[in-house]
Amino acid sequence: MLEIVEPYEGDPILSLNDAFNRDPREGRVNLSVGVYFDDAGRIPVMEAVRHAETTRLGTIGPRPYQPLEGALNYRAAVQVLVFGAAHEAVESRRIATAQTLGGSGALRLGADFLHRYFPKSGVWISNPSWENHRAIFEAAGFPVQTYPYFDAATGGLDFDGMMGTLCELAPESIVVLHACCHNPTGVDLTREQWAKVFAVVAERRLIPFIDMAYQGFGAGLDDDAWAVRTLADTRQGGRPMPMFVANSFSKNFSLYGERCGALSVVCADEDQAQRVTGQLASTVRRIYSGPPTHGGQVIASVLNSNELRAEWQAELDAMRGRIKRMRSELHDGLQKELHKRGAEDRAANLLSSLIEQRGMFSYTGLSAQQVDTLRDEYAVYLVRSGRLCVAGLNDGNVGRVAVAMANVVTAQLS
Ligand code: LMR
Repeated sequence: MLEIVEPYEGDPILSLNDAFNRDPREGRVNLSVGVYFDDAGRIPVMEAVRHAETTRLGTIGPRPYQPLEGALNYRAAVQVLVFGAAHEAVESRRIATAQTLGGSGALRLGADFLHRYFPKSGVWISNPSWENHRAIFEAAGFPVQTYPYFDAATGGLDFDGMMGTLCELAPESIVVLHACCHNPTGVDLTREQWAKVFAVVAERRLIPFIDMAYQGFGAGLDDDAWAVRTLADTRQGGRPMPMFVANSFSKNFSLYGERCGALSVVCADEDQAQRVTGQLASTVRRIYSGPPTHGGQVIASVLNSNELRAEWQAELDAMRGRIKRMRSELHDGLQKELHKRGAEDRAANLLSSLIEQRGMFSYTGLSAQQVDTLRDEYAVYLVRSGRLCVAGLNDGNVGRVAVAMANVVTAQLS
């Protein structure tokens, strides 16, 4: 009977990571998966996490099932981090938050929940978007379409194209937006542009679903959450409007395998939020019954302690600073190499994208063929869309990457 099962062609991002791990070449560089590596090329264990874990191991006891929607201390900490402690929506308890299996789990939980109540809606994601967005919403039963986002001609945002599509969507269409550090392009909206998007969302009664997987990697924890916090304040016909937020702790706690994230649904009032929490719990029960304990409790210990939270934030700030420095080092190195080859002007977009885009990723504009050459000839791994994870660069490899990229760009130009 199982003869009908076809082979899995692999995930476009995670299979590359596997291929990288199997690659025996000395000096190989992984700029594919969205993972933060430190300057020594290792996935860091953050000191605040280590401290919380050490304390926890000393006091660990029986491990009962967690509530279906997750632990209260974790869910409360999520709301404070995502929305801010003093946000009216937090204070008036009108946010329903469930602990999830990473940010992907939050997206899927939200998608399943939405499909139950809005089965006729369509989902709209940016073009391009994180590779897995389409798959997650399609798996929940939604048709998925795209709105214009990246402008290849400028390496920036096609805001008019984006607004043109949003302005025509049917009410209750679900619009997936990236809070900050857009994946894969590194191109974010300005606050003025966000305000225009919110106005359309409210006017057309769209359902915004914000994915925030990189809080802390753009401009800082609060700045990166600005869009989420502002939208949670937006009104629709005088009433607070609904919104969904998926957040992940994989990157900003460097706890990828612990699968910690949350789904927050901003509701009109506390009563609605309680009902939504209940139905999220029921959805969780039907999929995987409940979240695991350890990672979530480590995160809650850090976020709920002034001392550990300050330590964590300082470490996260340093990670963001290092990524920024790597952006400019790759830019400068590449500029120098291109200059030597007389090709600086012809790769102007690539150079400016490294400086102007932000967060973990740069969308280089390199073709799939150029990416293949980088991997096959120089052991430098990018995603085939041309996405480069800046957080995989370090002082030891950035020079080699600049040379390899310059060679690949000029080979095509000559
Ligand atoms: C990425 O975009 O590389 C990360 O979010 C990892 C993943 O799950 O795709």
